[in-house]
Amino acid sequence: MTMLTLVFLLLLLAAPDAAAGPLDHPGYAKAFSCSACHGFAGNSRSATMPILAGMNTAYLKKALQDYASGMRPSPEMEPYSKMAIHLGVDDVAGYFAAQTKQPTPIAADAAAVARGRTASQVCVACHGPAGKGDPAKNVPDLTGQPAAYLAHQIQLFKADRRSPGDPALKQLKEVMKAVPDNQIADLAAYYSSLR
Ligand code: HEC
Ligand code: HEC
Repeated sequence: MTMLTLVFLLLLLAAPDAAAGPLDHPGYAKAFSCSACHGFAGNSRSATMPILAGMNTAYLKKALQDYASGMRPSPEMEPYSKMAIHLGVDDVAGYFAAQTKQPTPIAADAAAVARGRTASQVCVACHGPAGKGDPAKNVPDLTGQPAAYLAHQIQLFKADRRSPGDPALKQLKEVMKAVPDNQIADLAAYYSSLR
């Protein structure tokens, strides 16, 4: 490559709007430590860590507040939620909400997905026919999340270990209690497979 091309390329890289990406968001520095578990720009590639990219701002904030207050017990998230609130929960939640979700790369078993689709009738009223949730009611989007994470959360709800005793989640937990244990993995596979 000629010297001129090199100079041009360097100028392109230095131009402020040349490559606006996750690193340019004002909340990036405040959300930096989250990437160790939740992946770059909140796009977890792990089976057990939820994807935060593209999540609704109000739901993100509620989750962080519930972890920090001890309402939603998690030894991993308690310190990080407190840190996010200390740094500015609006900036941290705004950062993840602004990222583009890349669904989990972990493929779900086709037979489990088909069984899960049938079992999901009882979930549609709140999570919607496409599994995208309802931001107005703070019902989260389940699509493309890693199946193992979803299955674990269903188990926690069923055993009343996620936000135990929260009156706002009474109806959800009644539905979960009626879900047979052998359907949990199927429901998780189904929602994980949706795009
Ligand atoms: C040490 C690993 C780790 C780090 C670092 C971490 N998290 Fe988490 N995070 C988890 C785990 C594990 C869960 C699931 C906990 C549970 O079962 O509720 C979680 C769950 C969450 C959820 C709930 C998502 C949902 O779908 O309900 C949010 C929001 C979240 N983390 C935000 C953050 C933010 C913001 C940071 C950085 C300030 C952060 N996390 C740093 C491990 C981590
Ligand atoms: C009455 C409404 C309602 C019904 C019915 C319902 N959900 Fe939910 N679901 C919610 C709400 C609200 C939340 C968020 C809870 C919170 O704020 O902690 C949630 C959260 C979840 C989560 C956690 C997602 C995350 O990112 O952590 C999973 C998984 C889930 N629901 C699966 C299901 C499945 C599977 C069914 C059907 C068997 C179902 N839900 C039925 C309202 C409902």
